[in-house]
Amino acid sequence: MIKKCLFPAAGYGTRFLPASKAVPKEMLPILTKPLLQYGVEEALSAGITNMAIVTGRGKRAIEDHFDNSFELESQLQGTAKEHYLYEIKDVIQKSTFTYVRQQKMLGLGHAILTGEPLIGEEPFAVLLADDLVDCKGPSVLEQMLIKYNKYKCSIIAIQEIPKESISNYGIVNGDLVDNSIDTFRIHDMVEKPIESNSNLAIIGRYILTPDIFDILKKIPPNKDGEIQITDALLIQAKMGNVIGVKFNGDRFDCGSIDGFIDATNHFAKKLEHSLIK
Ligand code: UTP
Repeated sequence: MIKKCLFPAAGYGTRFLPASKAVPKEMLPILTKPLLQYGVEEALSAGITNMAIVTGRGKRAIEDHFDNSFELESQLQGTAKEHYLYEIKDVIQKSTFTYVRQQKMLGLGHAILTGEPLIGEEPFAVLLADDLVDCKGPSVLEQMLIKYNKYKCSIIAIQEIPKESISNYGIVNGDLVDNSIDTFRIHDMVEKPIESNSNLAIIGRYILTPDIFDILKKIPPNKDGEIQITDALLIQAKMGNVIGVKFNGDRFDCGSIDGFIDATNHFAKKLEHSLIK
C-alpha cells in the first residue's frame, strides 16, 4: 500500500522568470488551478492522502495554498461566490501535508533525499507537478500502482518522445515483460544523452522503494554539482528492480513555455466542452 507522495518543488524555475521570482513555479495556474494542486488531486485519485512537499526559499505560497484561509472563507460564506472555494477545501480536507526545505538546490535526486524524513522506510510515490498529465481513464499514478502491486519494485512512467528531444530527458532501455505492450523491465538508463537507440523518456512520476535513499546517499554529484535520480535508479535497474510503464494520457511539460501553453489550451478546450454539454 502506498500512502505517501513526495512532491519535489524546491527548484528555481528559471525558465519562468520573472513570473517565478516570487511565485513558485509549481503554483503557476493552468486556468484557475495551480500545477501542484493538479498533482495533489492525482495522488488522491490513487488513494494517497499523505502529501510530502519539498520546498525551498520563497515557496511559502505553497503552504498557504494548502491551508485554511479563515478571513477569505468568512468573507465568502453565504455569498454566491462561496462555491469557488469548494474544490481546494475538499483537497485540504482529504489530505495531510508535511513539508521539508531543501537548503541547496542540488538536483532532483538531492530533493528526493531531502524528503527522506517525511517518508521513512516505506515505498512512496514521487510526482513532479510541472509534468501535468490528463488521463481519460485512471490517472498515471493509478496506472503505476497497478504495476507496483504486481512487481513490488520501483516503477517509472515512460513515454515515447521525438528523437530530437532525447537530450532533454532521462532515456531508458528495457525489455517488454509478460507479453505486455506497455510494461518494460528496465536494464539501462542515461540522463540527457546526445545519442541513443531508444526514445523512451522518463517523465515526472515514480514509485520508489525506500532503498533508494541509501543509494542516493552514495551517488556522487555530476559535473553541475547535481545528484541525479537517474543514477540511483540505474543501480536498482541493474539489479532488475525497475519497471517502466508506458501510460495512457496526455502529458504536458509545464516546466517549458510551450508545454505550459499547450496545457492551458487543452484544459480551456475541455472546459469549453463541459460548458456546452
Ligand atoms: P526542473 O529542473 O524542471 O526544475 O526540476 P527547475 O530547476 O525549477 O526549472 P528550471 O530548469 O530552472 O526552469 C523538476 C522538478 O524538481 C524540482 C523542481 O521544483 C521541479 O518540480 N527540483 C529540482 C527540486 O525540488 N530541487 C532541485 O534541486 C531541483
